[in-house]
This record gives sequence, structure tokens and C-alpha cells, in this order.
Amino acid sequence: MITVENLTKSFSGRTGAVVALDGVTLEVAAGTVCGVVGPSGSGKSTLARCVALLERPDSGAIRVDGTDLVSLGGSALRAARRQIGVVPQGDSLLRQRTAAGNVALPLESAGVPGPQRRTRVGELLDLVGLTDKAGSYPDQLSGGQRQRIAVARALAANPSVLLADEPTSALDPETTGSVLTVLDRARAELGVTVLVVTHDMGVVRRICDDVAVLDHGRVIEHGKVLDLVADAGSRTSGSLLPSVDQNPEAESKYDRVADVVLVGFAAVGALLPEAASRFGVELGLLGGGLTRLGETPVARFRVGLTGERSDSALEWISEAGAAVQRKPKGPQGVAA
Ligand SMILES: Nc1ncnc2c1ncn2[C@@H]1O[C@H](COP(=O)(O)OP(=O)(O)O)[C@@H](O)[C@H]1O
Ligand SMILES: [Mg+2]
Repeated sequence: MITVENLTKSFSGRTGAVVALDGVTLEVAAGTVCGVVGPSGSGKSTLARCVALLERPDSGAIRVDGTDLVSLGGSALRAARRQIGVVPQGDSLLRQRTAAGNVALPLESAGVPGPQRRTRVGELLDLVGLTDKAGSYPDQLSGGQRQRIAVARALAANPSVLLADEPTSALDPETTGSVLTVLDRARAELGVTVLVVTHDMGVVRRICDDVAVLDHGRVIEHGKVLDLVADAGSRTSGSLLPSVDQNPEAESKYDRVADVVLVGFAAVGALLPEAASRFGVELGLLGGGLTRLGETPVARFRVGLTGERSDSALEWISEAGAAVQRKPKGPQGVAA
């Protein structure tokens, strides 16, 4: 579990102080993946570097499994750093070392004896699916393979927390998938808590349980991805759910119009038809669509309902756990 409390950090720039983090509070539960998103310059990397103890915050607390890391010094700080694996931004492998040699590096620094080290390197290469590349040099690997080796290296010392700063920024979509799979395996198979900084909402869509949106050094949105998508006003729902086009003419044919967000197989598959039959209303899909967040199917539909019990049907859909937002009908509907 990572807890960040009221973290502030300024840098002195040429034109005065630059506030990179302005009271950031964040909680990441053990064994979950949290995405940190936001525009360039919003403080994402500074946050990651502070949590990795590579940068000292001006104030605030960073607790990993209960221990406040900001107050530590000396050997306690070094020990705490070992609890945190870092995948640095950009290409960070040593060119003159093989893939296995790169993964072994933190184990060598920690004084792990040769035979144990080789076993551990073997396990890690297996975890990232690159056993057959053990003897290859970084220049012989693709960008995605290099990133997977960087993840294996970050996991070498068995950290409880893994930080990755833009791990997929220079990669094509296919290679991105292989790197995200490796981060997801670190969480699922090793129980590591993962904080991933990204400007790509696709990363959030594929592997994140939670997301924090930064803007000008502040957290402007934070929560479970599946909760935030149900909140029509959230940025997360805006960027992850299928958009709904306006269609006033189609809307005008119904008594009621609403946007409905459905989460999970059961809801996506059955909720709307069941509401229609229970309440004897005609229910039509006017827009929106279906997507997937991680393994979970999620839909946002604009629906139209006609029939005496349309309001009861919408209430029932909402009570069944779907987010329902009633819409004023298109201009032609108002005129009719
Ligand atoms: N070492 C530094 N010295 C001066 N300013 C910095 C330094 N690191 C970051 N900044 C400034 O802090 C702000 C946040 O930067 P950063 O955390 O890198 O944002 P992001 O990763 O979201 O793009 C920016 O205005 C950036 O210019
Ligand atoms: Mg950055």
C-alpha cells in the first residue's frame, strides 16, 4: 500500500519557483495498478520520483506499507529504496551488458551470491517472457523487449512497489501490449503494487484499477476506474467510454431519453432488455456503444423509452447498479 499525503515540491526555475506538486494526496492499495495521467508538465514524473525517493519533497508524507519514507535517512533510506522498483523513463539498459546482465545488476549491488543470482535472473526473464533473449544485448532487442527487461530489472530485488514512468511512450500499439502484460503479471503473480505514469489513456484502459488525474501539480480526479466511468462528469469517463452523438430526431420519438453506463457482463448483457420487459416499455438504443476496461465489459448507451412506466424502468435500472443520467430531449421533442 502506498499513501501519499499532501506532497509539495517546487523547483527554482529561471523565472522564479515552479510548483511541480501542490498538495498531492493519493492512496494506492496493495496489489493494485494505479495510473497517473495528466498533461505534460502536470507533475507526474515529479510525483513518481518523489515516491521512488529519487527526489525529496518539500513537505508531506510518503508511506509504503505504513513507514513514512520522507523522514528516513542513511541505511534505513537505502533499505526503503530497495522496496521500490523503478522503471525509468526512456531507454535505461546498459548497452555493454546482456539482457541477463542488466537484470542481474541490482542483485550484484545487493551482494546476492552467483548461483542464487542466476536462479533469480532466470525466474525474472521467464516472468517477462524473454528467457530466449538472456544472452542478447540491448541493441539486438526491440524497444518493447528492452522495456520488459527494464521491468525485470526493477523487480529483481523483490520490491513491494513498482514505479514505471511512461513505460510505453515510444512503442507501437502491439509492443505496448506486451509491456502492459508484463506490468499486469507483476501485480497478479507477485502481488506488487504498481504506479504507472502515462499520457496514454489506453494504458489506463488496459491495466489500471485506479487512476489519478494530475493538473498543475494537483490531483483533480482520483478513484477506481470502474467508479469514475460511471460518473458522467468525470474526465475518465469522457476519455474511456464510447461517445454519444446527438440525434434529436431519433430522441424525439421517445417519451424519455437517458444515458446509461453499464459495468460488467451481467449488466451489459441483460439489464436493458429486462427493464423493458418488466415495465412493459419500448426501449431503443439511440447511440453510444460497448468497450472493455481491463477484463470488464462496459457500455455507455443513450436509450429512449416509451410507455407509461418509463420513469419506473429508469429507476429500476439505476437501482440495479447502472449509472443513469436523464437527458432533456432534442429540440424537436420539446416542440412536439
Ligand atoms: N529538475 C527540475 N528542475 C526544474 N523544474 C523542474 C524539474 N523537474 C520538473 N520540473 C518542472 O516541474 C513541473 C512538473 O514536471 P514533471 O513532473 O516532469 O511533469 P510531467 O511528468 O507531468 O510532464 C514542470 O513545470 C517542470 O518544468
Ligand atoms: Mg514526465
